[in-house]
Amino acid sequence: MLQKIQQTAAWIKSHTASRPLTAIILGTGLGRLAAEIEVKDSFPYADIPNFPLSTVEGHSGRLIFGQLGGKEVMAMEGRFHFYEGYSMKEVTFPIRVMYELGIKNLFVSNASGGMNPEFAIGDLMLIRDHINFMPEHPLHGPNFPTGPRFPDMHEAYDHELLEMARQIAREQGIKVVEGVYLATQGPTFETPAEYKMYRILGGDAVGMSTVPEVIVAHHCGIRVFGVSIITDLGVEGKIVEVSHEEVQRAANAVQPLMASIFREMIKRI
Ligand code: HPA
Repeated sequence: MLQKIQQTAAWIKSHTASRPLTAIILGTGLGRLAAEIEVKDSFPYADIPNFPLSTVEGHSGRLIFGQLGGKEVMAMEGRFHFYEGYSMKEVTFPIRVMYELGIKNLFVSNASGGMNPEFAIGDLMLIRDHINFMPEHPLHGPNFPTGPRFPDMHEAYDHELLEMARQIAREQGIKVVEGVYLATQGPTFETPAEYKMYRILGGDAVGMSTVPEVIVAHHCGIRVFGVSIITDLGVEGKIVEVSHEEVQRAANAVQPLMASIFREMIKRI
């Protein structure tokens, strides 16, 4: 495993002169931020040794190196989901590669169902914390030397980055909400009873990604900032049929706001 990670990192280093400190993962319907990056090099996942292949519609599957907010960044346009059949090791493989490449900050984004009754479709939720409700743990197995066997998780989402995002949202007049992201394995969206249960458990939003990557990044000492776009509502009385297309459409509409916050944060870090 470690050999594969190092092999992939070495391949990337030999194919781009870019040496970013910040990485971005673009979630469902959020790939357009990639268009704001002044791209220097981009690699389809299929061309990168040892990389899994993205299969979901709305994910084009490219690793991008370029400039955003005047800084070098790398971006994953499309991620690997557990529900697609990848193992947790595959889902988090790119994070291990990021660590080898010297990444210090990770920005993650996703689409999710809002369960907090105060949320509305199109809200941008800053992720303050998460609940890992996935059936497998990404750190299962022999411990990687990047971090301890029993990692502390009291600040999985970096407080400084969170405060910076709040400040920037205020400055730019962008409405943000905050909350706890609860990750399920998918691929089903929730039944009304499941939304209710996840709400009782403490979730403000529910989705099918992000948490594995965040856990591994945290274990690697990478600072994490996360944003969840509320694309549908799992609130009693407001639950309607939801489809992947609608999720993509709702996420699409909020992309410029998310991009604006990401860009400014990257400029400042
Ligand atoms: N549930 C789970 N995942 C999601 C949802 C949802 O309601 N919306 C977007 N991703």
